[in-house]
Amino acid sequence: MKIDNIKLNTFRNYENANISLKDGINFIVGKNAQGKTNLLESVYLLSVGKSPKNSKDKQIIKFGADKSRVDINFSTREGNKTIQMLLDRFNKKSIRINNLNVLKIAELVGVLSVVYFSPDELKLIKEVPEDRRRFLDVSISQFDKAYLYDIIKYDKILKQRNTILKSNSSKETKLEELKLFTPQLIDTAEQIIIKRVKFIENLKNIAKNIHKTITNTESLEIFYSFDISTKSIKEQLNELFEKNIDKELELGYTCFGPHRDDIIFKINDLDCKYYASQGQQRTVALVVKLALMEVIKSHIGEYPILLLDDVLSELDYSRQNKMLELTKKYQTLITCTSIPILDFEYNKIEIENGQVVTQ
Ligand SMILES: Nc1ncnc2c1ncn2[C@@H]1O[C@H](COP(=O)(O)OP(=O)(O)OP(=O)(O)O)[C@@H](O)[C@H]1O
Ligand SMILES: [Mg+2]
Repeated sequence: MKIDNIKLNTFRNYENANISLKDGINFIVGKNAQGKTNLLESVYLLSVGKSPKNSKDKQIIKFGADKSRVDINFSTREGNKTIQMLLDRFNKKSIRINNLNVLKIAELVGVLSVVYFSPDELKLIKEVPEDRRRFLDVSISQFDKAYLYDIIKYDKILKQRNTILKSNSSKETKLEELKLFTPQLIDTAEQIIIKRVKFIENLKNIAKNIHKTITNTESLEIFYSFDISTKSIKEQLNELFEKNIDKELELGYTCFGPHRDDIIFKINDLDCKYYASQGQQRTVALVVKLALMEVIKSHIGEYPILLLDDVLSELDYSRQNKMLELTKKYQTLITCTSIPILDFEYNKIEIENGQVVTQ
């Protein structure tokens, strides 16, 4: 995929901007607090439907304005496309794809495919499992809509099952009601876990190779916490629910299933969460995103857009160079305060106070 043009109107600190992008690396360069991250946010917003910072619509709208508008023109294997998003301080946001109104955010997901990395993505390695599950869900949904709908369905069943577990009814009534919801939960859980396991299988080999190229000496391993090598998913979940029903009734929530799973990253056999340095964690998080570019391509037949926010700081010169060398084959938007010396061509977009000063 390739973004040709981004138009921003009263979006964050932009009044009106019209930005043309090229193939390969596009450096978004400028001093601190000029609008570089805001530009990447606009692209992510039109891809995933929400801000990477989880900002509310009214926080995105420029101070003093009532509306924000973002228009992106891009080309895909299927031809040229446009997405337009209108944020309104007082009403719901509206989205148009190729000039047709979109009713659900789920319809937007996967149309403009992006992979995003920001300093915040370190949480993929060092924070709570929820962040890693969100990574799985956002990533797989980009190429598998059915997965996205399974996640939505699973959350619904999970809430219903938890309501039963928490309720004041007698144990017999609860057990009777659970007879309906537990099998539904297990069926949907199975679909989700199968796809997550397959996704990690694909991702880990690609990531291992990229990681080796960037670091030279380190060996990266990635595991999904649910082991399906011995028994089927259904069998395992059935056993877990049967054995632990008293515990679940006491706690009042569902203790097993994909909402509790995790990803484990290891460098040279040591868990990155506890042992890796800041630079190593950053490298792993970045490598995982680069590997994701390849996984998505294997499913949709073309590369997504790569958005790298502030990726150069904290990587040493050698890692920076190798990383840039790897990303020039994608359309990449990289924000930075200064451009390193490179021996290949790139596009430079200089941002100052919400305006493009050179392009
Ligand atoms: N709704 C808004 N309206 C107007 N300005 C805003 C709004 N939201 C954020 N800003 C401003 O946008 C400015 C630029 O933010 P941005 O995060 O894009 O900077 P940056 O160029 O990425 O800087 P850095 O190099 O420090 O990462 C900030 O100073 C912020 O105050
Ligand atoms: Mg920034």
